[in-house]
Amino acid sequence: MDAVNPNVDAKPGRIYLYKRYERFWHWSQALLVLTMLATGFEIHGSYQLLGFEPAVRLHTLAAWALLTLWAFTIFWQFTTGEWRQYLPTHKKVVAMAVYYSWGMFRGAPHPFHKTVQKKHNPLQRLAYLALLAMISPLIWGSGLLYLFRAVWPELGIDRWLTLEWVAWAHTAGAFLMLAFVVVHVYLTTTGHTLTAHIKAMITGWDEVPEDA
Ligand code: HEM
Repeated sequence: MDAVNPNVDAKPGRIYLYKRYERFWHWSQALLVLTMLATGFEIHGSYQLLGFEPAVRLHTLAAWALLTLWAFTIFWQFTTGEWRQYLPTHKKVVAMAVYYSWGMFRGAPHPFHKTVQKKHNPLQRLAYLALLAMISPLIWGSGLLYLFRAVWPELGIDRWLTLEWVAWAHTAGAFLMLAFVVVHVYLTTTGHTLTAHIKAMITGWDEVPEDA
């Protein structure tokens, strides 16, 4: 297989969409976010699983691991030019919304066809942009403020901010992240078979059905 461009060796009906590092960061991020959700809602008091102290320790450890992963991933996105995949477009947004809410259940053809250059459909681009530009800053900003609350007085932060506000913002971010995960997982099942999208993110190869 050509190491630089595996698509040189592609068989008809399949394309190499997700590179090795991309699959690694996707699955490690998924694991870390699920860990943050499980421990975060335990800290919140929604249920008891590990106990409060171990949950706080695991939550903090996963936060640092996620931060490290993101630092490498941002570097990867910019050095490979893959960041362009997240630029939003208004083209076919309505067609995609109609497909997901109606066409998909009636066997209508998918309005968007993935290519190596454009692997996210327009709705996916908008959803990932919302995650990057809204949910992540909210959860990270409030998480870091929460983590470093001991140094607030030194920095004068406690004069204009209370812990209640930070806790509220962080919990709101956690609910938005949970909603994102639920919708994201549901949409992974809407390929030409139930597991087609998941398989592609495991192997890197996307099967293009005959009628696509
Ligand atoms: C997917 C990401 C995350 C989710 C879903 C999440 C969820 C939560 C939830 C629900 C709580 C309980 C809030 C409360 O009831 O007051 C919490 C607490 C906390 N989170 Fe997160 N969080 C995430 C990411 C982060 C990050 C990135 C950081 C740090 C940079 C962080 C730091 C903290 C801290 C310090 C606490 C309070 C722990 C304590 O009480 O000592 N979280 N998180």
